[in-house]
Amino acid sequence: MDLKNINTNALPKHVAIIMDGNGRWAKQKGFLRAVGHENGTKAVRQTVEAAAELGIENLTLYAFSTENWNRPKLEVDTLMRLLVSSLKKEIKTLHENNIKLKAIGNLETLPKKVLKELTEVIESTKSNNRTTLTLALSYGSRAEMINAFKEISVKVKNNIISAENIDESIINEHLYTQNLPRC
Ligand code: FPP
Repeated sequence: MDLKNINTNALPKHVAIIMDGNGRWAKQKGFLRAVGHENGTKAVRQTVEAAAELGIENLTLYAFSTENWNRPKLEVDTLMRLLVSSLKKEIKTLHENNIKLKAIGNLETLPKKVLKELTEVIESTKSNNRTTLTLALSYGSRAEMINAFKEISVKVKNNIISAENIDESIINEHLYTQNLPRC
């Protein structure tokens, strides 16, 4: 990838990408959807390396939504397998490029194997500081809002915040994306 012509003085602080089109890409080429997902992971690798090379502080990948659980079991299993193998394979790349891995979403719903690998890579890369790569997994904006409302209502009940003071910044503090700058 030729990054030479990009003005690194005008980079966004946060780039968020919705991973989409793997299935359509595969169909167009006459391949199985699984081949599309495999190639999707290759495209992700290039994107992550390019973001780190450019010095983009935050890259967020919306990789697996809550709705994606409704896909056929075989496809979900393939995606979870790809996730585990990518995490195992790419830990070296993350360190080489000084990338910290984080994850947002309903992570406890992920298969144990995925959660274990994810936790290990997050722990291993926590001191890296060039780019923060956040994977949105089992992520849904409705679930995110429900979680925020629950946390805020507990705080209101315990008089930590008053209902009148709820504003954009309080809501932001309770979103999964609280530590990420807006795009
Ligand atoms: C969208 O394509 C892609 C996904 C739902 C899953 C992407 C996740 C992975 C490939 C797992 C590995 C993840 C990382 C971060 C390495 P689609 O199936 O919705 O395509 P379509 O819209 O063409 O059907």
